[in-house]
Amino acid sequence: MSTDRIPPNRGASVPDVVAVGESNVSQAEWLAKQQIDTKERVNLKKLSHMRYQHPDLEEIQVFMLDFGMEIVKKTEEEIWFKGYGPDQYVYYARKGPKKFLGGVFEAQSKEDFDRAASLPTASAVEELSQAPGGGCLVTLTDPEAFPVNVVFGQEPTNIEVSHPERLTLNFPGEKPRRREFNRFEPGPAAVHKLGHFGYATQQLQSQVEFYTSTFNIVPTDLLYIEIEGQKVLVTMFAHLDLGETHTDHHSFFLSSNPKAAHVHHCSFEVNDYDTQQLGHQWLAKKGYKSVWGVGRHILGSQIFDYWWDTTGNMVEHYADGDLVNKDTPIGDIQAGSESLAVWGPEVPASFLQ
Ligand SMILES: [Fe+2]
Repeated sequence: MSTDRIPPNRGASVPDVVAVGESNVSQAEWLAKQQIDTKERVNLKKLSHMRYQHPDLEEIQVFMLDFGMEIVKKTEEEIWFKGYGPDQYVYYARKGPKKFLGGVFEAQSKEDFDRAASLPTASAVEELSQAPGGGCLVTLTDPEAFPVNVVFGQEPTNIEVSHPERLTLNFPGEKPRRREFNRFEPGPAAVHKLGHFGYATQQLQSQVEFYTSTFNIVPTDLLYIEIEGQKVLVTMFAHLDLGETHTDHHSFFLSSNPKAAHVHHCSFEVNDYDTQQLGHQWLAKKGYKSVWGVGRHILGSQIFDYWWDTTGNMVEHYADGDLVNKDTPIGDIQAGSESLAVWGPEVPASFLQ
C-alpha cells in the first residue's frame, strides 16, 4: 500500500496572465493577424436582453418567475421580464411558435447604432414604442441566419440597484462572523442581469470572422482539437472589447457542432453560491428539468446551473464569473469535456448537443 502523501485539492485566484499559461496570444496581435480594422467595428457597450418566441406565454411566465425574474410589463402577446440590475428588462417573450429571436446588444453611441443599421443585412429600424424604456432596435443576420440585434436609446431606469445581502463566511483560519448566524429563505434565485449567450454552429470559422470583424467582440479563450497534427478551432469564448474597462470573461460564445446549428443557452447572473443552490432546489421542487449543475466551470470560473425552460430552451444561472480587459491574453486551450468543469455532476450528453 502506498503511503505517499496525496496532495489535497486547492483553489486560488490567479492573475489572468498566469492562469492562461504559456500558450497564448495578445488581443492586439490576434486582431492584427485577422486584419480587423478596429475603427470599422460597431462598438457594443453591453449585452442588454434576450428575445424568444413561446407558444404558451402563461407557462413561460410561471417558469421565468420561478427562475428568478420579475414581470415589468405584460400584454396579451408580449411579456418583458426584468432582473434586479439596472436594465429595463433582461428577457423579452412574444407569443407564437417556438422561435429564437436573438440576443440584443446595446450600442455605445448613436453613430455605432447607425453603422449597424447601415450594414448589408440590417432590417428597418424598429421603434420599441411598447417596450419599457423605449429605444430603437435593428436586426442583422449572421452568416448562419441567426438574428443579431442592436438596441440604442433606451431610457436609463435610474433605479438604485439594491443587491442581496453579502454573506460573511467563516474559514478555519479566519472567522469574521461571530455571534451572527447565517440564515436563508427558500425561493427563486433572483436574476441580476443577462451575462452571455451563444450558439452551436456548423460554420464556426465564418461566424468567428463575422462577429469579431463586425463588432468589438474579441476572443477570450480559443479551444482547439488536434486532427492529424493540425489544430482545429472548435470553440470561442468572447468578450466585449471595452479597452481598460473590465468586462465579463464571455458575453458571447460559438461552439462547433457538425450536427446542427442552434442557440445553445443564455445565462443570467445571480448573487452567490448559496443563492444558486437555493434557486436550484426551488426549480427542482417545482418539477422543472435540470440540464447540468450545480458545478464550477474552468474557463470563466463561473458556478453554473443549466435548466430547460418550459418551451425547451436552455437557460443558465451563474455566479462568480471572471473579469477581463484588453490586456488579458487570449487562451489557447485543448478542448475536451474534462475542460468544462472542475467540479459538479458529469456533463450530460444533452448539454453537448
Ligand atoms: Fe454559460
